[in-house]
Amino acid sequence: MKIGIDKMNFYAPHLFVDMNKLAVARNVDPDKFTIGIGQDKMAIAPITQDSVTLAANAALDMLNEEDKKQIDFVIFGTETGVDSSKSAGVYVHELLGLKPQTRTVEVKQACFGATAGIQMAKGHITLNPDSKVLVLGSDIARYGLNTPGEATQGAGAVALLISADPGILALEDNSAYFTSDIMDFWRPVYSDKAFVDGKLSNEQYIAFFKNVWKAYKGKSGLELNDFEAICFHLPYTKMGYKALKTVLEEASEEVQERLLANYKESTQYNRNIGNIYTGSLYLSLISLLERQTDLEPGARIGLYSYGSGAVGEFFTGILQDGFRKQLATEHHQKLFDARKEVSVAEYEAIFEKTLPSDGSKMELDIEEDPSTICLSGITEDKRQYVNKAK
Ligand code: HMG
Repeated sequence: MKIGIDKMNFYAPHLFVDMNKLAVARNVDPDKFTIGIGQDKMAIAPITQDSVTLAANAALDMLNEEDKKQIDFVIFGTETGVDSSKSAGVYVHELLGLKPQTRTVEVKQACFGATAGIQMAKGHITLNPDSKVLVLGSDIARYGLNTPGEATQGAGAVALLISADPGILALEDNSAYFTSDIMDFWRPVYSDKAFVDGKLSNEQYIAFFKNVWKAYKGKSGLELNDFEAICFHLPYTKMGYKALKTVLEEASEEVQERLLANYKESTQYNRNIGNIYTGSLYLSLISLLERQTDLEPGARIGLYSYGSGAVGEFFTGILQDGFRKQLATEHHQKLFDARKEVSVAEYEAIFEKTLPSDGSKMELDIEEDPSTICLSGITEDKRQYVNKAK
C-alpha cells in the first residue's frame, strides 16, 4: 500500500519586514542578510496570530468535508506551543470542526516535530488504511531584537494530509535517523526567545546530514544520481546549500546541476518567509513543487529534517501521477501578493507586544488581521480563538 502526502498547504501571517531595511537598521551590509544568509523577507506574526491560529489557517484552506470525515488523528508538531499541558491540536480540531472520534496530540523535538508526525501517521495509516491523518507544523521563531539570530526569525505553518494512495508524494520505506544530546539551540520554559550557539548549530546540522545520508545510502543502495531533488530543513536558505555542497561531488555533473537548480526553487518560499521551524522543510517541498515546472511523476525527492538538540532524519518520496492538481500554487501567490510590509520600527513594536502572564484580561483587535482564524484575546488565562467564517 502506498502511503504519503495527499495534500499540503502553508500559511504565513500578512506582515513582513524587508531584510535590506533590517540590515541597514542593524548597521550590517544588506548583502550579509540577502546573500550570506539568503533571506529577502521575514514574516512577522501580529499578536492575533500564534502557533494555533497559523496551523488552523493552513489546514482550513486545504480540507474538504470528505477529508474532515476521514481524519481521525491530528498530530501537531511545534516548539512554540501555547500551553505546557493541552495540545495545540485540540484547539485546531475545534476550530476546523473535526469529528470527536479523533486522536489528537502535540509532539516536540525542535524543528523535527512535523517529521515525527509524518512517520507516526504512516504507522497509523498502515493499521487503518481508510483513515487520514492531519499533520501540522507551526511556529513563530524568535531570537530577540539585535541578536545574531534575528535575521533568521520567521513565522508560519504547514498542514499535511497523510493518507493511503496519496495524491502528491508516496513515502518510501527506507529512512535513516540519528539522535545525539547537544546544546546547539534550546528554549528553557521560562523564555519566549530561543537560546542558540549559532556556530555549533551550523556545524551539527551539517554533521547530522552527512551521518544520515551515509546511513540512508547503506540501507537503500541508492546514490545521489537517483534523486531529482533534495529538500532541506531551512533555518535560512544558505544552510541547506552548505549541507548539499558537502555531498554534491558524489553525483555526475548533470545531476549536480539539476540538484542545484532544484535546490534554488525549493528555497524561494522560505527566502520570503524565514524560519518557520517545524514547517520549514515542508514549506521548501511546496516551493519546489509549485515553482519547478519540469518535475515529472515518478521523480524521487529526498527530505532532510533537522531539529536542534538534536535529531536528524533523511527519508524519501516518489512524486505521484497528477500531483500538480493537488497543489494550491495560485492561492499561495495571492497570499504572497496580499502581504503588507512593516517598517523596522513597526516590527520592533509588534515583537515587544506580548500577552499578559498574570491572569489579567486582554482583548485584541482582530479586524486589523485579515486571517480567517485569529486569537481574539485572553480571559482567565484562557486563549480565546475566533473563526471569522463561522
Ligand atoms: P552571524 O554569526 O552573525 O553570521 O549569524 P556570520 O558571520 O556567520 O555570517 C553569515 C554568512 O554571511 C557567512 O557565510 C558570511 O561569510 C556571510 P558562510 O561563511 O556561513 O557561508 N557574509 C556576507 N556575505 C555577503 N556579503 C557580506 C557578508 N557578510 C557576511 N557583506 C547565524 C549567522 C546563522 C549563526 C545566526 O543567524 C544564528 O545564530 N541563527 C540561528 C541559528 C540557526 O539558524 N542555525 C542553523 C542550524 S540549526 C537549525 O537549523 C535548527 C533551528 O531551525 C532550530 C530548531 O531545530 O528548532 C535553528
